[in-house]
Amino acid sequence: MSYKFSTAMKCRDLHPPHDLPDWPPFFSTMAYLNENYLKLKAGYLFPEIARRVKVFTEANPDAAKRMIRCGIGDVTEALPDAVRAAMHKAVDEMGDRSSFRGYGPEQGYDFLRNAVAENDFKARGINIDADEIFISDGSKCDTGNILDIFGSGNKTAITDPVYPVYVDTNVMAGNTGEADESGAYEGLHYLKCTPENGFVPEIPTVPVDLAYLCYPNNPTGAVATRAQLEAWVKYALANGTTLLYDAAYEAFIQDPSIPRSIYEIEGARDCAIEFRSFSKNGGFTGVRCAIVIIPKGLMGKKKDGTKLAIHPLWSRRHSTKFNGVSYIVQRGAEAVYSPDGKAQVAALIEHYMGNAKLLVEACTKAGLKVFGGVNAPYVWVGCPNGLTSWQMFDKMLNEANVVITPGSGFGSAGEGYFRISAFNSRANVEEVCRRIAAL
Ligand code: MLT
Repeated sequence: MSYKFSTAMKCRDLHPPHDLPDWPPFFSTMAYLNENYLKLKAGYLFPEIARRVKVFTEANPDAAKRMIRCGIGDVTEALPDAVRAAMHKAVDEMGDRSSFRGYGPEQGYDFLRNAVAENDFKARGINIDADEIFISDGSKCDTGNILDIFGSGNKTAITDPVYPVYVDTNVMAGNTGEADESGAYEGLHYLKCTPENGFVPEIPTVPVDLAYLCYPNNPTGAVATRAQLEAWVKYALANGTTLLYDAAYEAFIQDPSIPRSIYEIEGARDCAIEFRSFSKNGGFTGVRCAIVIIPKGLMGKKKDGTKLAIHPLWSRRHSTKFNGVSYIVQRGAEAVYSPDGKAQVAALIEHYMGNAKLLVEACTKAGLKVFGGVNAPYVWVGCPNGLTSWQMFDKMLNEANVVITPGSGFGSAGEGYFRISAFNSRANVEEVCRRIAAL
C-alpha cells in the first residue's frame, strides 16, 4: 500500500518512523467527534430561554428593568443560617493545619451519608444503609452520568413531557436514533403524560429495561400516589426494569399520603435507583450537593445473562471520574438535618409553596387551566386561545415582562402548556399574579 503526498507537505509534517506505507492518510489527522451530539435539538432549554431573554433585554432596556424571572427553577432565598454556620465552621477547620482536609472519600463523608440514611430513610421506616448512599455535586449530573454504567441497547422509557436532561444524555450516549419533526427520538419509548392520566403515565404495555420517573414532577408539578408507584414497582420487578427515580422535589410534598421516596414501596430496593438533591430544599443550586441511592442488592445483567450488582459499578465510576464534594459543602448539607436546619428548610418550603398557591389562584382566576403547584414548586398551565408554548413565552415576556418556561421545551406533549416556577420572592410572585390578571 502506498500513499500519495501533496507537494505542499513540509518536512515538519513527517514524523519517524518514516515507514510511510503504514501511515494513515494525512487528511485524517483531526480528532473524530461524538456525532451523537449532532442529533440534539437546538440548545439545552434553559440556555435557549436565557438567549431569548438577552435579545429582549437588549432591544427593550426599560421593559427589562421590570422583568421577573419565573423560568428556570432556581432558588432565590438565602441559604439557611444553620447551613451557613456549618460552612463557616468548616472553612475555619480548613484554615487550621490540624483539621485541614485534602481529598475526601469520593462517595462522601460518613457524617453526611449517615445523616442522610438516618433522616431521609430510617426515621421514615425505610431500609437504606449509609453505604448505599453516594454524595455528588448535583442531580442533573447524576441523572446524566448514571448512563455510564448501563450498556448500549437498553430499551428506555421516558415520560413526555420530561426533564430534558434524561433525553439529551441518552442522545449523547448514542442510545437513540435521530429525532422526528415532533422532537421524539427513535429508540426511546415515550410515555405520554396528559391531564387525562393526571400527568402520571400508564404502565408500559411492553417490557423496558430502564424507566425514568420524576415525582413530584418537573415540569408538570404532578405527584404519583402510593398505588401508582406500587404499580410501577410491580411492573419493574416483573420485567427486570431498573427505575431511575428522581426525587429532587420530594421536600415540597404537602400531602402525607404521597411517598417521598420510591423505597417506601415494597420491592423498590430490587428495582430502583433514587436521586435526591439539596438544591431545592436547602437552596444549594449554587452550592452543589446531591445524593444517589443504589441498594446493594440491585442487579443488572451482562449480555450473556449473568446477573451482577449495580452498586460496585457506580462506586467504581464515582471513584474514577469524581473526587467528591468539598468538605465545606458536605458540612453545610449535614446541617440541613440539624434541628435548626430542619426548621429553616421547612420555612423555605413554606415560602415557596405559598408562592405556588398564589400563582395557582391567579392563573385559575384568569380562566387558565392549571395543574401542579400543590405538592411541587411548579405550576403547569394550559396556554389560552390556542397559543403555542413559545407564543405564550413571547406574550408573557413582551406584555407582562415575565419569563416562564414553554411547555414544548419538555417534549411534544408539553406543547400548549407553560410552566411557572414558584422559586421567587413573595413580592415578585404577587407582582406576577397582578400582571397575569391584567393580561
Ligand atoms: C428546572 O428549571 O427545570 C430546573 O431548575 C432544572 C434543574 O434543576 O436542573
